Amino acid sequence: MTLAEHYSGGYSPLIIDQFKQRSFARHGVFVQPYLTAGLSVLDCGCGPGSITLDIAELVNPGVVHGIDFSALQIEQALLLQKQRAITNARFTTGSAYQLPYDDAQFDVVFAHAVLYHLQQPQQALAEFRRVLKPGGVVALRDACHTGDIMQPWDVNLAVVWQTIAQVFSYQGGNIYFGSQHKQLLLEQGFQAIVLSCSYDMFATDAEKHSIRDYWHQFLDVDHRSLIVEQQWLTALELTQQCAALDQWLANPASFFARARCEAIARK
Ligand SMILES: C[S@@+](CC[C@H](N)C(=O)[O-])C[C@H]1O[C@@H](n2cnc3c(N)ncnc32)[C@H](O)[C@@H]1O
Repeated sequence: MTLAEHYSGGYSPLIIDQFKQRSFARHGVFVQPYLTAGLSVLDCGCGPGSITLDIAELVNPGVVHGIDFSALQIEQALLLQKQRAITNARFTTGSAYQLPYDDAQFDVVFAHAVLYHLQQPQQALAEFRRVLKPGGVVALRDACHTGDIMQPWDVNLAVVWQTIAQVFSYQGGNIYFGSQHKQLLLEQGFQAIVLSCSYDMFATDAEKHSIRDYWHQFLDVDHRSLIVEQQWLTALELTQQCAALDQWLANPASFFARARCEAIARK
């Protein structure tokens, strides 16, 4: 069954606060060689805008536009912009499928951790291509669970990840999406594709807590009813699987390295 698209990351204060900690230096470094002063950049699916505002500092006096279909995220981004006193960023609510921008408006379109949530990533890529100038650069970074490393691994964590994948897929996303960048970019007529991979590392106590809290919110709070209704797990099994995340957290030797596929391509 295909549902109307629903962003499975959710907008709980915990998750928004975590996204606010993201930075271009940590998550966008593969795009750095393509960002110079004066460029016009779109950050699509910008969330609470912390990476967007870093980009604004890099391209100043160029302008970065951040767009997100959540009004709540845009509200957060505007607050952050005010706190950081950045004037060359514009934020607006809207969809990746129908961007409210002119043809050939941007030098660079960046989408960080967005396309793997979408039911129709091809449609978003077609829009990215439309709003890019000829020769402009698209830059994508998405999860690919095949490359994740979670240690120590066990059968309960395998069930946790199977359930996460089921929730994503039910809502139109795909936790293996990163590996499809090249194929989809070629289909949309992009050229000069450069691929890379990197990891988001969760190894310190604070990092491990943050990722445990993230998946706990995702499974046990935001999607508990869905998981139980769809009979992927019983309520008791779900509680037990969430306890597996706590055990992983408590192990001093544990860590999680989240694989991210990255792609740069030109219109
Ligand atoms: C995982 S968050 C990433 C946010 C930000 N790029 C970052 O890395 O911090 C994904 C964002 O994409 C937004 N989003 C999901 N589907 C969208 C769509 N069709 N159009 C625009 N934004 C969308 C969500 O609201 C969410 O803020």
